[in-house]
Amino acid sequence: MSIVEQTREGDVLVLTIHNPPVNAFSPGVPEGLHAGLDAAEGDEGVRSVVIIGGGRTFIAGADIKTFDLPREQAPDLRGFITRLDAFPKPTVAAIHGTALGGGLEVALACTYRVATKDAQLGLPEVKLGVLPGAGGTQRLPRVVGVPKALEMMLSGNPVKATEAQQLGLVDELVEGDLREGAVAFARAHADARPLPRISERSAQADPQVFAAAREGIKKTHRGQLSPGLIVDLAEMAVTRPFQEGWEAEARLFMQAKDSPQSRGLRHIFFAEREAGKIPGLTRDTPTTEINSAGIIGAGTMGGGIAMNFLNAGIPVTIVETAQGALDRGLAVIRKNYENTAKKGRMTVEDVEKRMALLTPTLNMEDLADADIIIEAVFENMDVKKDIFTRLDAIAKPGAILATNTSTLDVNEIAAVTGRPESVIGLHFFSPANVMRLLEIVRAEKTSDSVLATSLALAKRIKKVGVVVGVCDGFVGNRMIHRYGDEARKLVEEGAKPEDADAAMNALGLPMGPFQMSDMAGLDIGYAIRQHQAKVRGEPEPDGWLDRIVEMGRKGQKTGAGIYDYGEDRRPKPNADVQALIEAYRAEKGVQPRALNPQELTERLVYSLVNEGAQILDEGIAQRAGDIDVIYIYGYGFPPYRGGPMGYADEVGLKNVVAALEGYGQTPAPLLKRLAQEGKTFAGYDRERGQS
Ligand code: 3HC
Repeated sequence: MSIVEQTREGDVLVLTIHNPPVNAFSPGVPEGLHAGLDAAEGDEGVRSVVIIGGGRTFIAGADIKTFDLPREQAPDLRGFITRLDAFPKPTVAAIHGTALGGGLEVALACTYRVATKDAQLGLPEVKLGVLPGAGGTQRLPRVVGVPKALEMMLSGNPVKATEAQQLGLVDELVEGDLREGAVAFARAHADARPLPRISERSAQADPQVFAAAREGIKKTHRGQLSPGLIVDLAEMAVTRPFQEGWEAEARLFMQAKDSPQSRGLRHIFFAEREAGKIPGLTRDTPTTEINSAGIIGAGTMGGGIAMNFLNAGIPVTIVETAQGALDRGLAVIRKNYENTAKKGRMTVEDVEKRMALLTPTLNMEDLADADIIIEAVFENMDVKKDIFTRLDAIAKPGAILATNTSTLDVNEIAAVTGRPESVIGLHFFSPANVMRLLEIVRAEKTSDSVLATSLALAKRIKKVGVVVGVCDGFVGNRMIHRYGDEARKLVEEGAKPEDADAAMNALGLPMGPFQMSDMAGLDIGYAIRQHQAKVRGEPEPDGWLDRIVEMGRKGQKTGAGIYDYGEDRRPKPNADVQALIEAYRAEKGVQPRALNPQELTERLVYSLVNEGAQILDEGIAQRAGDIDVIYIYGYGFPPYRGGPMGYADEVGLKNVVAALEGYGQTPAPLLKRLAQEGKTFAGYDRERGQS
């Protein structure tokens, strides 16, 4: 079948795009569409044209894979749109699924747009660090008005077809068969003359709108390039002739597309989709249905995990050892939901519906029917082993037995059961009802089916699941421990905690290392350091941060940690902490020196990169891209920096190695090798067929 199929329906020519899975505007599509327009132009019997997507969607946008091709090899979307806009016969875009980016731009250059009720229309380019580059910035404001166009282009979120109709973006909603409806519409409008062209309309707006938008993006898109360009172009749609805005858009699109930010965001777009693919697992790998869940532990973690299931409509039985703890856990869940309802993001009925799916119990036997059981008690191997021994006796055959451990050996836990193939780690991140990341820890004997079911479950409960191997801290926390070590060293050498945090904030991380430790609770890191020292037979740790914890300053929860926290919860440096750090340096004979922001940034980020490279080499992470996805969804690393590994690629691995060595550190063997060979982490993923 041709990539663009031409079919005559009497006097209407229907052009159907067949470019699965999402009908992106890939090479071949413009050629096929031009051929269709040639046919329509050359045939007097054709009075109007319908453009429709075959399969599940209308055009989902430009083909992101072609962004890095030289201009002459990239599909010419703008050229096609120019012709479409000037086409002498009526054209109708028939939209189902999603009309996104270049897809909506094609639709906007048609004379009319019809859509199914459940279709969605949007310009998500900002999410890829670019801007609508084929007329979207000039046409959308002329149709829906500047404020709505700005909202759509700056959020990147689509609108539903029903809203699009109210906005005038869709001319008609089609109830039955879209193709039939579109053909009827095209026939009914075949005689419309002059043809209504969006490019010939004008747009008005209060100049205040642009000033407000520029203020707004300072908060919502701090440090990002493309949102500002989008506002500039929307302003041109009002103040300049169409042609001038259209040409400026092409220039600014190229500028945005060639920026490191867009490269970073595109890398993440694909990395996120790759993360769900596991070598060895296929569509045929059997999965089991999850219709009920059991959760052991109603503390912060257990409660948060339960909420994910309740939100997805999956009944949960939650187990505690004492009635008081169970009641407290339930009260916290209810309060969380009620707060959401107060903010208007959920109805009171929604709250009750969720709570009705939750069964509290003190009896672990009540988990006998659960399809999945997740243990979320405190980190103690003996306690976990005891729970899994009991679960082995209670759980039905085939049930998934998961542990939410963040540090312990999942193989060792699995070994106490007679069914290690059913055991897996599901590491949620706190607050578990909010954070999107789920590390799926594949133990030695975890079956493919349990792994595939867990991946599908992650999607269903709206998490981004990334498969990792067993090691202390898995991927995310193992790297964050190294980062924490480096941060403490920086302060030891002379930096102020607030300077280290500021360096990470400047990179776009909402929290630097110390702001993050204060939020997580300093006692947690303290306990981990104590534990690790014991395991390694080292003396008890006595760093400056340990001493701060020993002063009773445990972080935000005690109102005081590395920083002080008042009502506004903003961190403020504390004089006692500063004095303690100075005394500590003096005691250790350290002559403090000034560390500039470049050193702070490099040493912090490269500590992540270096450990990430080691993790990759050991096969604990399958791909560098997986590590980036983990850091974005679990630790707030800005997507437009491409995650730590993507960032290192952008800097150049040679430069990363040189910097590490310059700071007297040893680059991981894999990092060093790739740097010597002039390679990147992304290239390494591709070479191994992992991406
Ligand atoms: N280009 C190339 N590949 C694309 C693509 C695109 N625009 N959109 C999706 N794909 C690929 C995905 O990589 C994935 O490939 P894989 O199966 O090999 O992993 C496959 O299509 C299916 O995608 P999803 O897994 O995301 O499928 P979903 O059904 O969950 O979502 C979607 C479908 C809503 C269309 C989602 O893929 C999406 O949001 N795509 C991006 C849309 C977009 O950003 N469009 C704008 C592009 S930029 C542009 O148009 C510039 C212009 O203004 C000049």
